Amino acid sequence: MHIIETRDLTYSYPGGIDALRSVSMHIPRHARIAVLGSNGAGGKSTLFSHFCGVLTPTSGQVLVHGEAVTKKNIREVRKTVGMVFQNPDDQIFSPTVEQDVAFGPVNLGLDEETVAHRVDGALRLMDADHLRHRTPPTSSREGEKKRVAIAGVLAMEPPQVIVLDEPSSGLDPPQGVRELTGFLRTLPPDTYGMTVIFSTHQVDLVPEIADYVYVMQDGVIAGEGTPDEIFLREELLRGARLDVPPILARLLRSLRQNGGQD
Ligand SMILES: Nc1ncnc2c1ncn2[C@@H]1O[C@H](COP(=O)(O)OP(=O)(O)O)[C@@H](O)[C@H]1O
Ligand SMILES: [Mg+2]
Repeated sequence: MHIIETRDLTYSYPGGIDALRSVSMHIPRHARIAVLGSNGAGGKSTLFSHFCGVLTPTSGQVLVHGEAVTKKNIREVRKTVGMVFQNPDDQIFSPTVEQDVAFGPVNLGLDEETVAHRVDGALRLMDADHLRHRTPPTSSREGEKKRVAIAGVLAMEPPQVIVLDEPSSGLDPPQGVRELTGFLRTLPPDTYGMTVIFSTHQVDLVPEIADYVYVMQDGVIAGEGTPDEIFLREELLRGARLDVPPILARLLRSLRQNGGQD
């Protein structure tokens, strides 16, 4: 069974455009999925808002563990799917980092000891223990801010799925991004039996983290496949208005000339 599945998911903002049109995707457990699309029109953020029930489909379905997401099971869904929004300011509003990370578990109604245990574990995993008693990082420290936001999600219960909307936004490329992807890769799969879904408009981030890619363009899936398959489809990347770094473009061209697939 897929941990997340969408079936012909269509969503129109009230009075607005169709931000998603008949999107069908299957996300197996433990997968590392990239949703790649240019900024502002892909539908990536709209899609992710459906994974945790923030938005309700205009038509079609979102299934988590094979069950349609409804108002009734939304609490369960949010325990399974941890969301890290694009702008961590949306989440950080506590006086200290420790309290901020504790916010979710406290809201789950967990006892003090369990909360403390979760907070310790999450801060340690994100290498943010030294920030514990500080005020939550401000935008001048984007990397730390992102790590605190992720720690907050991890502390909820190890969520089975972590969804990160544009995790590299605001980070110092390439240093900050490499740091973040490093953390994601070292999350222990036995405790955090984790499926990772992230969106990005940065093509070069994909092969570093993802084993499967969906390319989104104007609310539809324009293509999907492994990074190797996707990167050989120049017309797909260009059609989706993605910015392919010149050095990568050259490399791909020479791969194609040498016979494509392998
Ligand atoms: N709150 C909103 N109200 C109306 N239209 C929106 C809203 N949010 C996004 N959109 C529109 O939906 C489309 C997809 O946006 P979004 O999901 O944010 O794409 P992406 O995350 O790939 O940049 C865009 O055309 C955008 O203008
Ligand atoms: Mg977005």
